Amino acid sequence: MRKYTLNIYKDPDEASRAAAEALVKIARESLTARGKFSLALAGGNTPRRLYQLLAGPLRDEVVWSGVEFFWGDERPVPPDDPESNYRMARETLLDPLQIPEEHRHRMRAEAADKDAAAQHYQDEISRVLGAVGSGDTPALDLVLLGLGPDAHTASLFPATPALIESRRWVVANPVRKLDAVRLTMSPMLLNRAAHVFFIVEGAEKAPALAEVLEGPIDTQRLPAQLIRPASVNLVWFVDQAAASKLKKAKK
Ligand code: 6PG
Repeated sequence: MRKYTLNIYKDPDEASRAAAEALVKIARESLTARGKFSLALAGGNTPRRLYQLLAGPLRDEVVWSGVEFFWGDERPVPPDDPESNYRMARETLLDPLQIPEEHRHRMRAEAADKDAAAQHYQDEISRVLGAVGSGDTPALDLVLLGLGPDAHTASLFPATPALIESRRWVVANPVRKLDAVRLTMSPMLLNRAAHVFFIVEGAEKAPALAEVLEGPIDTQRLPAQLIRPASVNLVWFVDQAAASKLKKAKK
């Protein structure tokens, strides 16, 4: 039985606004309870709107000095490359909020030695979050994820080695169809998160979303199905266009 909350919104603005407000609520609870909040950002284009809301109308809702920013994945490009997930977040969120460098935990996916870069990132996660609970895999407070038209999430692409990673929290993942090796958090780390949000917008994602949520389990073909956080706090923020192929959900 898959456990998740599915929220369907009229359009991308509403979906992004709802996700931003839900993120703010969790951040405030975490900062009030523990004085800190660890957030793994999603890459791609969808989260752009959400990040602009956080840095704009919602900026005064969170004490950003207590927030540690991580990335769920990164492309093998320098941080100032137009393709960089770090650059997109820097422009829309981190610079506008004046987040200090020491709270920006960037994946060095441009490194020549990608395995070393993955290990370095794992060490950084461990240093900042500490290893807590069973198996010492730390729990991020909130992970933001997108969904590709091929049902990938983070850089967990169909039929790639990272899908079956059972030991490491961060890996260098060769993605043949992109002719690239990307860095990505592993399903194991992602599923330790206290909260996981998917933000999915647009008709081009509708077939993948329907297969992931309503189709048979086939994680090699539909990697987003691997995301089943132990906390069960898994929320999908989708717009009607992306939800248009769902059979069970009310629109
Ligand atoms: C990336 C992302 C990836 C993204 C999806 C959706 O590095 O590309 O981490 O998982 O979330 O590809 O991308 P869009 O939001 O651009 O559709």
